[in-house]
Amino acid sequence: MKLWDKDGKMPAEVEAFLSGEDAFLDQKLVPFDCKASIAHAHMLKKIGVLSEKEGAQLVEGLQEIIKLHTEGKFHVKQADEDCHTAIEAYLIQKYGETGKKIHTARSRNDQVLTALRLYEKDAIHQVQALILTLKDCLLQLSKTYGYIEIPGYTHMQKAMPTIVKVWLGSFVSSFEDTLKVFHLADELVDQSPLGTGAGFGIPVFDIDREMTAKAMGFSSVLENPLYAQMSRGKIEATLMHALTQILFDLNKLSTDLLLFSMAEFGYVLLPSEFCTGSSIMPQKKNPDVLELVRASYHVVLGEEMKIKGIISNLMSGYNRDLQLTKGPMMQAIEITLGCLKSLCLLLPKITINEGTCKKAMSGELYATEEAYELVKKYPPIAFVLKPIHELPAAFLRDLAVNHDEELVRLDVL
Ligand code: ARG
Repeated sequence: MKLWDKDGKMPAEVEAFLSGEDAFLDQKLVPFDCKASIAHAHMLKKIGVLSEKEGAQLVEGLQEIIKLHTEGKFHVKQADEDCHTAIEAYLIQKYGETGKKIHTARSRNDQVLTALRLYEKDAIHQVQALILTLKDCLLQLSKTYGYIEIPGYTHMQKAMPTIVKVWLGSFVSSFEDTLKVFHLADELVDQSPLGTGAGFGIPVFDIDREMTAKAMGFSSVLENPLYAQMSRGKIEATLMHALTQILFDLNKLSTDLLLFSMAEFGYVLLPSEFCTGSSIMPQKKNPDVLELVRASYHVVLGEEMKIKGIISNLMSGYNRDLQLTKGPMMQAIEITLGCLKSLCLLLPKITINEGTCKKAMSGELYATEEAYELVKKYPPIAFVLKPIHELPAAFLRDLAVNHDEELVRLDVL
């Protein structure tokens, strides 16, 4: 039964079209919607809408649903439309009229916002923890291999010498900035929309929004009820931006690892157990994990664009279009968690081949260093800015004798 059931039967195809992927996606929202409903039930009891007994029954029923969900035994069916209806239907079936009372002073519109924000808060915390783990993996690798010299590249050409610690450290620094973006996304998500109703507040009942916000673990209450609706998709877009920031870091890290593990470079050795084989080329050790991580950035960018597109041009207030932001958001979170978890397992297993790194440190990498030595030796000459014919003869002689190769390079420095 729907919460809004009207006369007449909707054709099954249309019903399926309306619920779309919700029956499947909302499965993930079940524990969060129950958590919100438990806070709501306690509040309704406090303001006298529910008796002590009724409140206790509803909380017990909701805890039962959480348990069933954990055991894989609570299913949102397409006919339920979404998890909010499925959960209320369970309570009504079990407690009759008392079950119906859980919907007092709330709408599915503030319910879906609340469940989504709780889901997102949980996801942000998981992602933040995994980024910190990955950062530790990089620091650990740096401890072991940090002082090995490797070529630094510009334009994909050997440029100047660097060390593993600087290379890996660049990702550590990038993660630190990315974590700041997640912190901001978390701050935006961390406001309770419960009690904003359909978008225009709750009339008649003197609800306690601070109480429910606190019980659910939100730091504050989202005051403007219409903004609560407007924030759907906008908040997700910010979260998606944070997700693309970490996936950008991982895309770059994967790209470096893919190149550096090619036989032609050989600086990095990938663990065989993370590589796949080929059905026809027995010599192959394919780095599929890194390739999928690299591509995931683009997939999530696409999901971000979907959300930003769906939420534009909508009149203020709830519009059903918003339902379609749920899939891209959840998909993006799942992909990001998958990438982070896989890299947290793979990174501690990579090794750096000191021998190949040493071999790669060819003479041209030191050209700048040698040029600077010359500048030191001929202090009055800011030769990098001067045409070669203006340089003093002694200086040129020195260059010609000791720095034949670099002579060509100096005029382009
Ligand atoms: N599944 C819906 C969504 O995600 C729930 C809210 C439905 N509200 C409504 N007024 N039809 O948006």
